[in-house]
Amino acid sequence: MAGKIRALAAFAMTAVLAAGATACSSTRSDTESSETSSGSKLIGIVMPTKSLERWNNDGAHLEDLLKKAGYTTTLQYADNKVDQQITQLQNMINQNAQILVVASIDGTALGPVLDKAAQQKIKVIAYDRLINATPNVDYYATFDNYQVGKLQGEYIVKQLGLDAGKGPFNLEPFAGSSDDNNAKFFFAGAWDVLKPYLDSKKLVIPSGKKLASDADWKNVSIDGWSSQKSQAEMDNRLNSFYTGGKKVDAVLSPNDSLALGIEQSLESKGYRTGAGWPIITGQDADLANTKNILAGKQSMTVWKDTRALGDQVAKMIDQIVKDQPVETNDTKTYDNGVKVVPAYLLPPVVVTKDDVKSKLVDSGFYTASKLGL
Ligand code: BGC
Repeated sequence: MAGKIRALAAFAMTAVLAAGATACSSTRSDTESSETSSGSKLIGIVMPTKSLERWNNDGAHLEDLLKKAGYTTTLQYADNKVDQQITQLQNMINQNAQILVVASIDGTALGPVLDKAAQQKIKVIAYDRLINATPNVDYYATFDNYQVGKLQGEYIVKQLGLDAGKGPFNLEPFAGSSDDNNAKFFFAGAWDVLKPYLDSKKLVIPSGKKLASDADWKNVSIDGWSSQKSQAEMDNRLNSFYTGGKKVDAVLSPNDSLALGIEQSLESKGYRTGAGWPIITGQDADLANTKNILAGKQSMTVWKDTRALGDQVAKMIDQIVKDQPVETNDTKTYDNGVKVVPAYLLPPVVVTKDDVKSKLVDSGFYTASKLGL
């Protein structure tokens, strides 16, 4: 049922976009330079890396939607290399792209190249991650990043029974890549929930990571959102601080790639699923992690339906092209240091073993067979 509704919505969106692209190419002279020889609009899309599953889905869905609507697209991945992403943007500017959709690697590094985009009146949409320290970002579309962390924190509190007075429990916190603006929002959301229990000592951090407040999140960040690095960090913590039978009860992992490394570390140190396996959070509902949830190796993930984000960005593109007001629902949270970027925030959703089927399969995000169900 939910799948059917989505399919209809996607169909309607394609029709709306197609109408927009046609109407624009015949009415707006300032956009003509952005048209390719076939007369369609060039939309440049840059994504951070192919090595993380979600960005492949993000790119493929958005590109597909835009192509069906008659746009010409160029979609580039930058292997998490900032310079490569800047070169890709420069090439898109040289090709007279009309709009750039940017999922940045380092949100502070794009100022100079976006100055050039602005000189050519190219509009910029920050995709999923905010672009900082530049006036030349027009809109931001993302999931509610603070809420992602809040859901992870609330899950830990509930599962440990902290409100029923249980504890103390051993918690190991992690944060995302220090160059990703989202990472601090994820951590702040979780920390605001967990901090009172740390203060009351119902939660303790045996590794002794210095976290006086959420502002210290870089003390537990894992650069590049790397599974290898999170595994090595968890190995260190377990080797150094979990001797003499001490066990970790919960791990705050901001996303699925970190969770994978943490899960591997735990296994290699002799933890086995079932009683004694810690609560582990995640984000993205990546395939491997969803399978781990079903296998009891990961407790939850915060699912962000990348199709919905693509739909919203495609809608923004259409509104920009048609010179219509661009729909946003948050005009105060995302200050990039130069301006508050008007944003559209989508709601993230918790997925646990009990609702993998109802949320991820029934919505068509995964087929049952892909998950081995
Ligand atoms: C995204 C997450 C993703 C992480 C690593 C963040 O900016 O919001 O969904 O897990 O980057 O790619």
